[in-house]
Amino acid sequence: MRTYLITGGAGFIGSNFIIYLLEKYKRDIRVINIDKLTYAGNLENLKSVEKLDNYEFHKIDICDKEAISKLFAENQIDRVIHFAAESHVDRSIRDPEVFVKTNVLGTINLLNAAKLAWEREKGYIEDKVYIQVSTDEVYGSLEDDEGYFYETTPLDPHSPYSASKASADLLVKSYIDTYKFPAIITRCSNNYGPYQFPEKLIPLMINNALAGKKLPVYGRGQNIRDWLYVLDHAKAIDLVAEKGKLGEVYNVGGHNEKRNIEIVSIIIDTLLELLPADDPRRDLVSHDLITYVEDRKGHDYRYAIAPDKIKKDINWEPETPFHEGIKYTIKWYLENGQWMEHVTKGEYQHYYNQMYKI
Ligand code: NAD
Ligand code: TYD
Repeated sequence: MRTYLITGGAGFIGSNFIIYLLEKYKRDIRVINIDKLTYAGNLENLKSVEKLDNYEFHKIDICDKEAISKLFAENQIDRVIHFAAESHVDRSIRDPEVFVKTNVLGTINLLNAAKLAWEREKGYIEDKVYIQVSTDEVYGSLEDDEGYFYETTPLDPHSPYSASKASADLLVKSYIDTYKFPAIITRCSNNYGPYQFPEKLIPLMINNALAGKKLPVYGRGQNIRDWLYVLDHAKAIDLVAEKGKLGEVYNVGGHNEKRNIEIVSIIIDTLLELLPADDPRRDLVSHDLITYVEDRKGHDYRYAIAPDKIKKDINWEPETPFHEGIKYTIKWYLENGQWMEHVTKGEYQHYYNQMYKI
């Protein structure tokens, strides 16, 4: 039975990935999820799998050398899927240090532990794979509306977040080049879907609109992101782990570019379409809530991926059209009000008040 070590599995993409993986492989695999449970980690996301006897959770910081080494010593791990990270650009602008700790030092700790254990076990047998889940933000910003990021695009990160992710990618590359460490790097575009923490654009706008709160759009809302449904991303990571070539980089995304203001308008229209006429929140949702606020410092203009390599080599392409994915996502948030209530208690209010002075 193959054993997966998933880091950051209580976060947005990690929890969606674990649910997908256990649904796909059922009892043929064992999943060990480790997560520090920062403000972004939430075990509620994993309610549907927590009782399975081939799933286990450990509250561990990836920077904790002893705990990570022990984990590798006590389990024969075949796949490492490394999601754990500080993931929000705005937080990295305010407090960069923790991004270096978790995203850079945490990654090298994991690399060292995997390398040591895998060398000790049998050498780098073919079946071991480490996936570094990275981001298209390491390529920097496309400054006009033409062109795409390719795997060969030079790294040029701008925010402390993307710089920490690029640093981690380079460390992974150095382990591939120096030790023939069996790793693959994936770089995806902006994900959306169920269980995303409401500091990110889409869930923040859904949550605010339902409460009749202002919708803070940075600058003039003209920045462009390439949106990827989280389940499509989960499928890509699984396929890369199975069919990807060791040592390679795969960009994951695909021709679903939208300006931020378009996204906010679609959210408002979709909420108005989905909310029943007698739901009191319906009267609160309105385009008048859109409020242009001070721009993000160093705001990257455009991210865009042409997923040619992953299509050609692995035959992956995004399956979910945005109009379907966003409808499904908004339905999920409407049906899971309690989840939103829980994650917006406490620290979130403090963050929101500091971040948004509106
Ligand atoms: P998230 O913030 O929702 O989840 C991160 C998880 O990591 C949380 O559960 C948190 O508790 C955990 N974590 C943080 N520090 C930790 C530590 N020191 N030790 C152990 N666990 C720790 O993030 P996400 O959106 O699910 O992103 C997952 C990965 O995908 C990240 O590496 C991120 O850089 C990358 N990524 C995300 C997006 C996106 O659109 N969300 C896009 C591209 C790449
Ligand atoms: P975000 O979800 O933080 O992802 P990233 O910065 O990693 O792309 O932001 C997506 C886009 O939305 C980005 O251009 C910034 C913008 N944005 C706003 O206009 N208002 C907001 O309140 C947030 C959180 C983001």
